[in-house]
Amino acid sequence: MKLYIPLDSAAKALGVDEVAAALASEAEKQGIEIDIIRTGSRGMIWLEPLVEIEQDGIRIGFGPATPEDAAAILAGNSDKALGPVEELDWMKRQDRLTFARVGVIDPLDLADYEAHGGLNGLRRALGMTGQEIVDEVKTSGLRGRGGAGFPTGIKWQTVHDADAPQKYIVCNADEGDSGTFADRMIMEGDPFTLIEGMAIAGLAVGATKGYVYLRSEYPDAIAIMSRAVEIARAKGLLGADVLGSGRAFDMEIRKGAGAYVCGEETSLLNSLEGKRGIVRAKPPLPALEGFLARPTVVNNVISLATVPVIFEKGAQAYADFGLGRSRGTVTLQIAGNVARGGLFETAFGITLGEVVNDLGGGSATGRPVKAAQVGGPLGAYLPVSKFDAPLGYEELDAEGGLLGHAGIVIFDDSADMLEMARFAMEFCAVESCGKCTPCRIGAVRGVETIDRIAQGDADALPLLTDLCEVMKDGSLCALGGFTPLPVMSAVSHFPDDFAHGRAAAE
Ligand code: NAI
Ligand code: SF4
Repeated sequence: MKLYIPLDSAAKALGVDEVAAALASEAEKQGIEIDIIRTGSRGMIWLEPLVEIEQDGIRIGFGPATPEDAAAILAGNSDKALGPVEELDWMKRQDRLTFARVGVIDPLDLADYEAHGGLNGLRRALGMTGQEIVDEVKTSGLRGRGGAGFPTGIKWQTVHDADAPQKYIVCNADEGDSGTFADRMIMEGDPFTLIEGMAIAGLAVGATKGYVYLRSEYPDAIAIMSRAVEIARAKGLLGADVLGSGRAFDMEIRKGAGAYVCGEETSLLNSLEGKRGIVRAKPPLPALEGFLARPTVVNNVISLATVPVIFEKGAQAYADFGLGRSRGTVTLQIAGNVARGGLFETAFGITLGEVVNDLGGGSATGRPVKAAQVGGPLGAYLPVSKFDAPLGYEELDAEGGLLGHAGIVIFDDSADMLEMARFAMEFCAVESCGKCTPCRIGAVRGVETIDRIAQGDADALPLLTDLCEVMKDGSLCALGGFTPLPVMSAVSHFPDDFAHGRAAAE
């Protein structure tokens, strides 16, 4: 009997290891021969620990499983039975391209990876020139999934065209946005796809060395990625002769030290060089002067992990998904006060309302949903009246939002949006690298000004608006520059929450 059980750290936090151990000991007690294969998570976090048993080639799910469910699961008569996992609404409605193998394969089994389409993209890229690879990425319409949505093909073109004795691929795996976990899930569930994507990027721009800058808060991802790199090297996927092509590409995993601002690309590069993680002024762009002042592609995990499927299925097939200038799929991370949270990969264009109410099932508390913050701590708080907005870079921008890394955090009507605005300023004050005044000082003044509003000071609200303008226009990077977005979205969409103090004072 074949059992598929996640090793993903969200499933672990929910007790999956105890469930796996109970299943193993129950099987031994009953004399049932079982083969447990640890996989990534399917992304239905509310069903974790999700155990899958293969029957006639179909995987039947049981979840959320507890150790006490072991005997009934093995007997096939558990009340936690969910039916075929692929037939669950959450799975059927997705367009799983980047995440196709996550939850399906053993993440560290390279043969399993190849059996599920892995390495087809790299093999194809090995037959192409650097320029042809860059053109393929441009045709796919892929844009940076870390948050800014800059066209990946154009970034690669800049590095490709730069003349230098050494170039680098740096993967930004410092996933620090609140409510986001897509990078972690793919690194834990399908690490070879990231390695393959980085190798293709290396071939495209002429880089022979890559680094994954991985946050220290992700110990499981660090362990799995490190082991995957060793396996890839041993099997000839990395090294001086990639898949026998005579082309070189190798990579290392580097552990971040835990600062949010190290997710900003220039700060990350400083940290990677062993310096303090402080933001550099741009220009020069990292594409021209990046790691050790050499031309460097800095891309997010999901951007790079999507490259193999683009080369496997063809750029046009990827570009056929999506909406407007947002081509392909978006890996939504649904979190916060929500009944059904998790990872959902779909073509751009789904509305926020569909995500929150239909997929997410509304709030976990059962109270009315009040807002969703899209795009991490620097994204806007969007009220229910904006839930018709389709999720695409330009479409959300037109509604005053920011898609960012596609994290969606949901709040019910008990949330106080003044408190949330204060939290945004406080977060900026704590995480500021300190290089520029509008952010370093502005965020501290922002917290104080919001406290004055809370106490009913009528002059404080226009002051906060002015301060936000200065931070937006005068900050060097997105941390100081975007913090006004959650703050001012809270002020404009939830004015009542900013009037309590005044009403009390009057
Ligand atoms: P940006 O707009 O300054 O740059 C986007 C990217 O394009 C950068 O890599 C830049 O170097 C590159 N670029 C621009 N012009 C180029 C050219 N001509 N050739 C080659 N490359 C070029 O945005 P930034 O500061 O990199 O990112 C801001 C975003 O990061 C925000 O939207 C925010 O949502 C997101 N973010 C994501 C986090 C996460 O955990 N994933 C954390 C914090 C912020
Ligand atoms: Fe540093 Fe803040 Fe300025 Fe960014 S905006 S460079 S984090 S001080």
